[in-house]
Amino acid sequence: MREVRAPQGSQPAGPHQPVLLAEVLEALAPLEGGRFVDGTFGAGGYSRGLLAAGAAVVAIDRDPGVKPFADALQAEFGERFSFVPGTFSALDSLAGALPVDGVVLDLGISSMQVDEPGRGFSFLRDGPLDMRMSGAGESAADLVNGLDEAELANLLYAYGEERKSRRIAHTIAVARAAAPITTTGELARLVEKAIGRKPGEAHPATRSFQALRIAVNDELGQLVEGLFAAERLLPEGGRLAVVAFHSLEDRVVKRFLDPEKGAAVQSRHMPQTRPAEPRWIALAKPRKAGAAELARNPRARSAILRSARRSASPARPVSLDGLGLPHARGAA
Ligand SMILES: C[S@@+](CC[C@H](N)C(=O)[O-])C[C@H]1O[C@@H](n2cnc3c(N)ncnc32)[C@H](O)[C@@H]1O
Repeated sequence: MREVRAPQGSQPAGPHQPVLLAEVLEALAPLEGGRFVDGTFGAGGYSRGLLAAGAAVVAIDRDPGVKPFADALQAEFGERFSFVPGTFSALDSLAGALPVDGVVLDLGISSMQVDEPGRGFSFLRDGPLDMRMSGAGESAADLVNGLDEAELANLLYAYGEERKSRRIAHTIAVARAAAPITTTGELARLVEKAIGRKPGEAHPATRSFQALRIAVNDELGQLVEGLFAAERLLPEGGRLAVVAFHSLEDRVVKRFLDPEKGAAVQSRHMPQTRPAEPRWIALAKPRKAGAAELARNPRARSAILRSARRSASPARPVSLDGLGLPHARGAA
C-alpha cells in the first residue's frame, strides 16, 4: 500500500461544508487500497476526501435525504464506494466482512437538515416541530406535547444543560393545554416568553432545541453504541476520528478514548485502582477549526476533533459507566 497525501482543502459538491476536513484526513491517514467507514455520510465531504486519497469507503447515514449525494459518489468512484442506510450504532455489522482501517463520525447535523424548514431543526426558520433525522419514530412535537411537565423539564436540563428548564416546561404545559404546539416558531416564542432574551446572547431557544434534537434522535445512545462498535471493528492500529459539536458529546468521546479521565473525575475520593489497559492511543491533541476555516464556515466554531488508534487490547463490552452521560436532575 502506498501512502497518499490527503487532498488539502478539497471541497465536495454539495451544500454541507465538511468541518475540519484536512484535520480529519490527517488523523485517518488514508492509504491507497485502505478501507474506511464514514458513519455520518451527510453530503459526503469526508467520504470524498478518503476516496480521493485512493481508499475505499463504506458510508452510513440514517437520513434518506442523503441518497443523491451517495449516488453521485457511486457514479464517480464505482465499487470503491458503497452506501448503507442505517445508524452508526451498528457500524460494525454494516461495514461488511473486509478489514477496516479507520472510522470517522461527524456528530453534528448537516446543513441540509438545519437549513430545510420542513425538517424542523431550526428555530430561525418556521416549520413543523419534527427533528427526526431518519424521518421515523417520535418527533419533537410528540415529546413537547406528550411528556409530562416534569419529564419535559428534566429532558431540557439533561440534554440542553438548560438551567431554567422548569420555567420553560411550565410555559409549554400552559400553552399546550389550549392547543398542541406544532411548529418550531411557536416553540421558540414560548421559550423566549418563559426565560426572556438578552441582546447579544444566543437565542434563548438554542439549548431547548439542542435538548429535543438529542432526545428525538437518541444521539448520546447512538454515540456510545457507535464508539463501542468502532472498538470491536477496528484491528490494532485502526484509526478513529470523531468530531463533536457540544460538551455532552465531547465528554463522552473524551472519556471513552481515555477512561482514566472519567475514573479520575468520578472517584477522586476513592483509593487509586490499577489503570485499565488502554484500548486507544491518542493520535493528536484535540483539534479545533482555525481562523481561516471559521471565516469560511462559521458552523465549525464549536467543532472539536479527537482521534486515536486502536491498541491490541480486546474490545470492552458496551457500558455507560464513566462516560459522563447527563442525569436528569436539579432543574430550576
Ligand atoms: C454533520 S453531518 C455529516 C457531514 C459529512 N461529514 C459531510 O462532510 O458532508 C451528520 C450526518 O450524520 C447523520 N447521522 C447523525 N446521527 C447518525 C446516526 N446515529 N447514524 C447514522 N447517521 C447519522 C445525519 O443524518 C447527517 O447526515
